[in-house]
Amino acid sequence: MKKQIVLLPGDGIGREIMESAKAVLEAIAKKYNHEFTFEKHAIGGDAIDQHGIPLPEETVQACQNADAILLGAVGGPKWDTVSPNIRPEKGLLGIRKALGLFANLRPILGFKALLHASPLKQEIIEGSDILIIRELTGGLYFGEPRERRDNGNSAVDTLLYTREEIERIVEKGFESARIRNKHLTSVDKANVLESSRLWREIVEEKAKEYPDVQVEHLLVDAAAMKLITSPSQFDVIVTENLFGDILSDEASVLTGSLGMLPSASVRTDGVGLYEPVHGSAPDIAGKGIANPLGIILSAALMLRHSFGLDEEAKEIESAVNACLEEGYHTADLAIKNGHQVGTIEMTNAVLEYLK
Ligand code: NAD
Ligand code: IPM
Ligand code: MN
Repeated sequence: MKKQIVLLPGDGIGREIMESAKAVLEAIAKKYNHEFTFEKHAIGGDAIDQHGIPLPEETVQACQNADAILLGAVGGPKWDTVSPNIRPEKGLLGIRKALGLFANLRPILGFKALLHASPLKQEIIEGSDILIIRELTGGLYFGEPRERRDNGNSAVDTLLYTREEIERIVEKGFESARIRNKHLTSVDKANVLESSRLWREIVEEKAKEYPDVQVEHLLVDAAAMKLITSPSQFDVIVTENLFGDILSDEASVLTGSLGMLPSASVRTDGVGLYEPVHGSAPDIAGKGIANPLGIILSAALMLRHSFGLDEEAKEIESAVNACLEEGYHTADLAIKNGHQVGTIEMTNAVLEYLK
C-alpha cells in the first residue's frame, strides 16, 4: 500500500516523540511491504518562528493533499506573549477546522502492566475500557464573538452549537457504541446551559434510531467524579469540545500517565489527524525523557482508521504491550521496578518487538 503521510512535529516534546512514531511507521512499512512517504511541515510555535504565523498556507495545503496527518504537540512559554490571534494553539485549532475534523476519538485503554502505575486503586481501574468522543470544531473554542470589552476589563467567549454540529457527533457516538458495548453516556450541563439542553434533546431524538444502544445522560461535574470512582461503568462517552478536553486529561490517570493516550481526529471520510492527547510538556522538553507511547499508539490508530490496516495497528499495540510487560517505562510512569528509560530507548524497545 502506498500512502503519503504529513508529519507536524510542532514544539517541545512534540519534536522528540515525532521521531519515535516515524521510526515505528517505517518499521511497519518494511515488515509489511508498504510504501509510506513522509513530508514534514511547520505548525505552532515552530511555524511562528519560521513564517510569523502558526498555520502557514503551505502546511494546510500539504495536509489537504495527504492520506493522513500525524501531529506532535504545539505551544510553550516562548510564545506566551505573542498576540492571541497567532498563538501556537491557533495553528492546531486552525488545522482541525480547515480539515473539518469534527470528531476526536480518545480511547482510554489501560495496559495490564501499568495497573499499579496509576494513583487509583487497581480494583477500581481493572476492566475499564472507555472511548471518549469529543466534539472538536465547535462550542466555546470557535464561537463568535470572542473579545475584550470595556478597555480590556471584561471579556466574552461564545458557546454556540448548531443542530447539524450536534447531530453528526452524537451519531458518531451511537455508531461507536453499537460496535462496542452498546452503552452511550452523553455528558452535558443541561441544568444550566441552553446549548446543553439542545444537545440532550438531539441525543433523545437520535436514541430512537439506535434502540440497541443504552443511553444515559450525565452532568459533567458528576461525570468527572464517576470517571475516577467507577470508570468501568462507561463504554462510549460523547461530549462537547471543552468538556471532552478536560475529561480526557482526567481519564488519562486510569492508564498511568497522560503520556500514554493517543487520539484520532476524523470526519466522515477516511482522512484523519492523529495526535497524542498531551501537550508540548515544556517542563521536560529537551531532556530526552518524554514518553513516546501516546504518539506511537496514535500512529497505530492512523493505520487502523485511515488506511484500514488493522493487523499492522495491532502489531504496534502488541509491541507496546510487550515492552511494558518487560518492565520498560519512561519517568512519567510511576513504576517502582522494571527498567526506567528515555524516549529513544523506549522507542528502540518497541522497534525490537516489531522485527
Ligand atoms: P502538557 O500535556 O504539555 O503537560 C502536562 C504534564 O504532563 C506535564 O507535567 C508534562 O511533563 C506531562 N507530560 C505530558 N506529556 C508527556 C509525555 N509524553 N511524557 C511524559 N510526561 C508528559 O500540558 P501543559 O503543560 O498544560 O501545556 C503545555 C503546552 O502544551 C501549552 O502551550 C498547551 O497549550 C500545549 N498543549 C498542546 C496540546 C497539543 O498540541 N495537542 C495539548 C495540550 C496542551
Ligand atoms: C488538546 C489540547 C488543545 C485543545 C489545545 C492545545 C488547543 O489541549 O488537544 O487536548 O484544547 O484542544
Ligand atoms: Mn487538552
